[in-house]
Amino acid sequence: MSSMESKIPEHRAFHPPASFARNAEVAGMDAYHALCNEAERDYEGFWSRRARDLLHWSKPFTTVLDESDAPFCRWFDGGTLNASYNCLDRHLKNGNAQKVALIFEADDGAVTQITYGELHARVCQLANGLKELGVRLGDRVVIYMPMSIEGIVAMQACARIGATHSVVFGGFSAKSLQERVVDVGAVALITADQQVRGGKNLPLKAIVDEALAMGGCAAVRAVVVYRRTGGQIEWVEGRDRWMSELVANQPQSCDAEPVDAEHPLFVLYTSGSTGKPKGVQHCTAGYLLWALMTMQWTFDLKPDDLFWCTADIGWVTGHTYIAYGPLIAGATQVVFEGVPSYPDSGRFWDMIARHKVSIFYTAPTAIRALIKAAETNADIHPKQYDLSSLRLLGTVGEPINPEVWMWYHRNIGGERCPVIDTFWQTETGGHLIAPLPGATDLVPGSCTLPLPGIQAAIVDESGVEVPNGQGGLLVVKRPWPSMIRTIWGDPERFRSAYFPAELGGNLYLAGDGAIRDEFTGYFTITGRIDDVLNVSGHRMGTMEIESALVAHPLVAEAAVVGRPDDVTGEAISAFVVLKRSLPSGDEALQLISELRNWVGSEIGPIAKPKEVRFGESLPKTRSGKIMRRLLRSIANGEEVKQDTSTLENPAILEQFSASGDSTSSRGV
Ligand code: WTA
Repeated sequence: MSSMESKIPEHRAFHPPASFARNAEVAGMDAYHALCNEAERDYEGFWSRRARDLLHWSKPFTTVLDESDAPFCRWFDGGTLNASYNCLDRHLKNGNAQKVALIFEADDGAVTQITYGELHARVCQLANGLKELGVRLGDRVVIYMPMSIEGIVAMQACARIGATHSVVFGGFSAKSLQERVVDVGAVALITADQQVRGGKNLPLKAIVDEALAMGGCAAVRAVVVYRRTGGQIEWVEGRDRWMSELVANQPQSCDAEPVDAEHPLFVLYTSGSTGKPKGVQHCTAGYLLWALMTMQWTFDLKPDDLFWCTADIGWVTGHTYIAYGPLIAGATQVVFEGVPSYPDSGRFWDMIARHKVSIFYTAPTAIRALIKAAETNADIHPKQYDLSSLRLLGTVGEPINPEVWMWYHRNIGGERCPVIDTFWQTETGGHLIAPLPGATDLVPGSCTLPLPGIQAAIVDESGVEVPNGQGGLLVVKRPWPSMIRTIWGDPERFRSAYFPAELGGNLYLAGDGAIRDEFTGYFTITGRIDDVLNVSGHRMGTMEIESALVAHPLVAEAAVVGRPDDVTGEAISAFVVLKRSLPSGDEALQLISELRNWVGSEIGPIAKPKEVRFGESLPKTRSGKIMRRLLRSIANGEEVKQDTSTLENPAILEQFSASGDSTSSRGV
């Protein structure tokens, strides 16, 4: 959704279905307000009561919130617990060992089910295996895995022994992987021989080999390899171990290591406004608490629900709403290896029908692509599938256009399922602003109201709250348990990126613009306020892509901007100045393809620019600042209306505009 569109007043409202509201975890707006008031009145009590009741503690906490070193906050100090114990053992103790935990569907449709008892045994075996490899409490382990039972087992096994995991999305390049391995200081890496997506086998282990050979990774003592395809791979004796052999003779029990409430459960890298990704560090107790509370509140999870979140474990959504939330809540969930378009774009609907999914959580970008597909091929239109098992739908990752929301509500939800637009971020650990399905009236395109306990607000550039109806910066006024604790190895960047002095130094700055409705107070997110793009729901820093481009031997300078795209939300447009004369014709086309592939190998295929334009220089002010707004207009095909009088070399606007007409790689 473009920021223009978000300003169109939206008058449609959908009340919670009565049958739904009756049984909901939070039933009705009075219940919602009561929770908000409870948090307002007694903030620490609000959280401590839930932390005590909902988590299993090895040792109870003695303080609730310690803000003495704000913005570095500590929650539930004195307490110790284990994440894996909370996600697995407690269900075994409650007589749920036979309950199915994961229903894994492979790319080719093969289905494997695994109970909580079996999952526990496998996590214990791998945890014992990691200990055999010398992985200890506080060590870091990088996980570079496909969507799989084994990927979740790997995360839980790390948590079980108190090792901090850092999952790297399987679509990232060797270079991106190496940077993360080095930054986090990993001692071991868990990967697979290959991954299978959309009928294709893609390398993982080969990329690990390449990454580790780039240097700086001497701390990595072991590479554990899950055999997914049996494809050809190279083997480094003494370093590489097959997962199957490592776990074969390990006991099926392993004491869960109690760790401090603040112990780093994981570090997950995400893009920021500089070239270097940020290692977002999350803690154990506060993170788990919110993962569980939001499963109960936002998803209204019931014991017989079948939950399916289509994210990848390489992103935060796959952490909180696959690897931790559903497990700590004791849910049965579907885990999918493949892609929504294979073998055809009816795959999601077919899976919902076959498995009888009741709660479905996906990204607007997937819905938009599937709408397109359904419109052109009636055979895979959702009406061909029995979607009656669904009772709740959710979206995440980017704004959802009101029309896409309506299509989802009508065609997938049969007009009976609430559609929950959840706003949150890698840094927030879980949902921040989202409707409660049994309470909140839904308005397409709005994530509605902050969850109880979350003190979200909109402020101006000096940190002063703005009235409803006036846009501004989205902030959170008080620390909450699942928030980012620091940027791994860079506390100063944590402070300056999230608690900027201009806003007073005590407001959490989300990095998104937002506006509240004048009458309802509902929030609508208007998009990032920094140089971060959202492509298919994935965060991409423009600086990262620019750095990748200028690393190419032929590139002198590059600027990257986003432009609206029907399917991916935003698309990447790159403006490139070469170290040689302007190319044209076939030569230009060849260079475009080379640069796109280059970015793919520097960062990963998700970062490939959709279009590349060439010019003799970049439009800059006399003080040397790149005029990005101007580039955005060109990328959008708009006539340049901005004042260009300060521009050093106005002729290049023509070049870039023309270059888009003749040599754009649009549609590639
Ligand atoms: C955007 C994904 C509008 C936003 C969980 C945020 C959204 C960034 C929504 C975080 C939503 C996420 N409506 N925008 N419902 N959800 N965003 O860290 O710009 O990958 O800052 O976390 O995605 O992306 P991240």
